[in-house]
Amino acid sequence: MKLYIVAALLSQHAVADWQFKSRPDLAPPRLNITIPASSNVEQGYLFVAPFAGFPDTATEQHGPRQAAPYIFRDNGDLIWSGYGYYSIWATNFQAGKWNGEDVLFSFEGDHNPGYGHGHGHTTILDQHYETIRELRAGNHKLTDKHEFHIVSDDTAVIQVYQPVPRDLTPWGASEEQQWIVNAIFQDIELSITSGKLLFEWASLDHVSPDEAILPINPGQAGSGYNSSDAWDYFHINSVDKNGDGDYLLSARDACSVHKVNGTDGSIIWRLDGKRSSFSLGKGVKFCFQHHARFHPGLKAKDDEDDVEIISLYDNSAHGSEDGRNNEVHTAPTSSGKIIKLNTTSWTAELQHGYYPPDNLRSKSQGSTQLLPNGNVLVNWGSSGALTEYDANGTVLFHTYFDSGYLGLGVENYRGFRYNWTGIPNEEPAIVALENKIGTTIYLSWNGDTETKTWRFFDVSRSKKKYLGEAQRTSFETSLHVAGKSVAHVVAEAIDAKGKILRETGSASLQPETLPAKAGATLSCSSPPQ
Ligand SMILES: *[C@@H]1O[C@H](CO)[C@@H](O)[C@H](O)[C@H]1NC(C)=O
Ligand SMILES: *[C@@H]1O[C@H](CO)[C@@H](O)[C@H](O)[C@H]1NC(C)=O
Ligand SMILES: *[C@@H]1O[C@H](CO)[C@@H](O)[C@H](O)[C@H]1NC(C)=O
Ligand SMILES: *[C@@H]1O[C@H](CO)[C@@H](O)[C@H](O)[C@H]1NC(C)=O
Ligand SMILES: *[C@@H]1O[C@H](CO)[C@@H](O)[C@H](O)[C@H]1NC(C)=O
Ligand SMILES: *[C@@H]1O[C@H](CO)[C@@H](O)[C@H](O)[C@H]1NC(C)=O
Repeated sequence: MKLYIVAALLSQHAVADWQFKSRPDLAPPRLNITIPASSNVEQGYLFVAPFAGFPDTATEQHGPRQAAPYIFRDNGDLIWSGYGYYSIWATNFQAGKWNGEDVLFSFEGDHNPGYGHGHGHTTILDQHYETIRELRAGNHKLTDKHEFHIVSDDTAVIQVYQPVPRDLTPWGASEEQQWIVNAIFQDIELSITSGKLLFEWASLDHVSPDEAILPINPGQAGSGYNSSDAWDYFHINSVDKNGDGDYLLSARDACSVHKVNGTDGSIIWRLDGKRSSFSLGKGVKFCFQHHARFHPGLKAKDDEDDVEIISLYDNSAHGSEDGRNNEVHTAPTSSGKIIKLNTTSWTAELQHGYYPPDNLRSKSQGSTQLLPNGNVLVNWGSSGALTEYDANGTVLFHTYFDSGYLGLGVENYRGFRYNWTGIPNEEPAIVALENKIGTTIYLSWNGDTETKTWRFFDVSRSKKKYLGEAQRTSFETSLHVAGKSVAHVVAEAIDAKGKILRETGSASLQPETLPAKAGATLSCSSPPQ
């Protein structure tokens, strides 16, 4: 009977899906790993923020029940649920370094899936998952969701989608269609509470609406009737900065990547789109792309200054996130690309292309991360999947971001692999459940990466009595005490060096109300030294 109830809850994507006894409130996505990680994947955890691309309807639920930033291991095991840390709607979740400290950051705010816009702020957390900074755009503008990228010790680039009225009749608009999105990026100092603005660039000063790939009519990128329907002729979705102080922009709706002079804002070159500075070699052509990045480190030893290497995520598709509008396709699949540019011959050559295992083609979102060991992590945006490749394109790992019935699916804007050390300020969660065969103690510590062993104690009497210990191998750890009831328990988190990181609060025995999971059995060993 009880089993039946659990199964029914699961099939309805109920919030309490009983992945964890110690945290029954958490319902993280269950990764659907179709190609398990091989031994040569890069080290580190997966950083993602899966969400449902559009609201549930009365008849259809889809996407994860708790859309939030998450850190996972390669086997799908949870490290950290950011649900409750980041609220409303969060995206572009990453780890980074700010003034030498390891931090997490994510956009959080409002999401407008119909237009692919988001308004809110970037929140930076420290290694204890405490908020240390909330950053908004400068100059009385609203931060957009697409980019937050730390480009030096203490500066980051962010974006703004600023609707402005203009005469758009030269581009086929009627007189009522007046609104266009001015795509802005800002280079901002992080340490100052007000966010000192160091550099600001606006697309309408440098890029004519002539370069738009999606015209104002029929309105796939907005029709310009009002400020929230502004024609998004450029749709900036990434900004990078190089050592010379110049910027690299991805303009999705112009199907081009622009290099921008960091002194005067002029355009140094354009790659692809209607006015490419380069002739494109085989496989270079991209469209509706995301996440363009400079890679000076990939240049060969004898490459001159006229060689530049960049990466990007090539969607080759455009459409609304619920997949119910007309889609535009320019290639059979999406892909990750590494492109070599020569600014003497003005040629662009595809160095590597990374193509999806299941012919995925994502109409929105996506990222391509080049990892330190040469592997490449491609995140398939609206297709809700992620793949790791070795440098020459062999697939080493593939996962979808949720399991079970997904309706039109789960989406994830960007996906990354990072090393991360988390020592939560949050208390560990511990429960002691009494069942027919004794007491089972369950324990988890959301975001902890350091505990290697949990050591359990009976504190029912005045003298603390050692009960046993269990290796911490996944999010939740359990210990079964056979044949007896333990009224009050505590546990200690022990790190790799044997140091006690934290003692839990005391948990009082409760009756177990659901079928027991298998736990580690108490071994009758003496207390460890
Ligand atoms: C803005 O224009 C769009 C497209 O015509 C329309 O659907 C929407 O209702 C308008 N919004 C407001 C606030 O007038
Ligand atoms: C950038 O602009 C400055 C000022 O106009 C100019 O001196 C410099 O040569 C430009 N750099 C590039 C790479 O074009
Ligand atoms: C760049 O192009 C120039 C002119 O064709 C050529 O001399 C040079 O070797 C090229 N550089 C590389 C790295 O291919
Ligand atoms: C691919 O690269 C790996 C090293 O990353 C190498 O061992 C392997 O031989 C390469 N395979 C091909 C087909 O080039
Ligand atoms: C995992 O993904 C594959 C490929 O899309 C799908 O066929 C399968 O049903 C999924 N499995 C689960 C448990 O969701
Ligand atoms: C994680 O750290 C290891 C050891 O230093 C390093 O080899 C690896 O490249 C790092 N992974 C990432 C994603 O940076």
